[in-house]
Amino acid sequence: MKLLFIGDIVGQPGRNAVKNLLPKLRERHALDFVIANGENSAGGSGITPRTAGEIFDAGVDIITSGDHLWDQKEVMELLGGEKRFLRPLNYPAGTPGRGSGIFEFKGRGGSPDEPARGDARPTGPKIAVLNVQGRTFMQPPLDNPFVLALEEVKRLRERTKIIFVDFHAEATSEKIAFGRFLDGQVSAVVGTHTHVQTADEQILPGGTAYLTDAGFTGPHDGCLGREIEPVIKKFLTGMPQRFEVARNRVQLHGAVIEIDDATGKAISIQRVSEALPAM
Ligand SMILES: [Fe+2]
Ligand SMILES: [Fe+2]
Repeated sequence: MKLLFIGDIVGQPGRNAVKNLLPKLRERHALDFVIANGENSAGGSGITPRTAGEIFDAGVDIITSGDHLWDQKEVMELLGGEKRFLRPLNYPAGTPGRGSGIFEFKGRGGSPDEPARGDARPTGPKIAVLNVQGRTFMQPPLDNPFVLALEEVKRLRERTKIIFVDFHAEATSEKIAFGRFLDGQVSAVVGTHTHVQTADEQILPGGTAYLTDAGFTGPHDGCLGREIEPVIKKFLTGMPQRFEVARNRVQLHGAVIEIDDATGKAISIQRVSEALPAM
């Protein structure tokens, strides 16, 4: 199977890029499944049922998130009732929402559908998606991602060997260590959060596709998707500023990963950096 992972979608320009570029990418890469990090989809901070709905309508099957999870209070609605929305696994027990899910994919252009427990209908191939957050230079401090991810992966592997992990973290060392730690146990570990795409895509020795950061989807003529001036002013003066979402040079960043259905091992990983033509 072939999946596309889309790096942090920032604001309306990011949602617009997904809407306009995904059909083309789906055709070009014959995609079976699309996962996107949506933590910045609402005005650059957080996610709402409306922005998530737009992303799903654009053809994304599953949305992951990260440290901006709580920026919009409407996120509670997604955490409570949207199975296609994941939050980092390593929040304390009792936090609403969930960190992983197992979804069916029906091949080209299929839609995901997790059968109810105990449902005996014959089902298609399945993919597990896991969202985990790092702890180095990250707020808030969460539970140990290594310990919890390993337990969760063990559980998921009882149901499918095709497992995609979005590791939302800042430090390259933590991300690389996490990829190496899960090598051979999952199909892919792709990092998010820094909004800067790295050039270290590779298949690790155990068969796990790895990329330290997918980059972000939105306006690249800015600072990580925001207007440049307020960011410089904050660094210059230390005074808080309002960071508006930037506008220009909109790009979709991510990675296309091909996975062997039978073994769950990655066959290839290719970075994606696709410009939205100026309207
Ligand atoms: Fe982000
Ligand atoms: Fe983040």
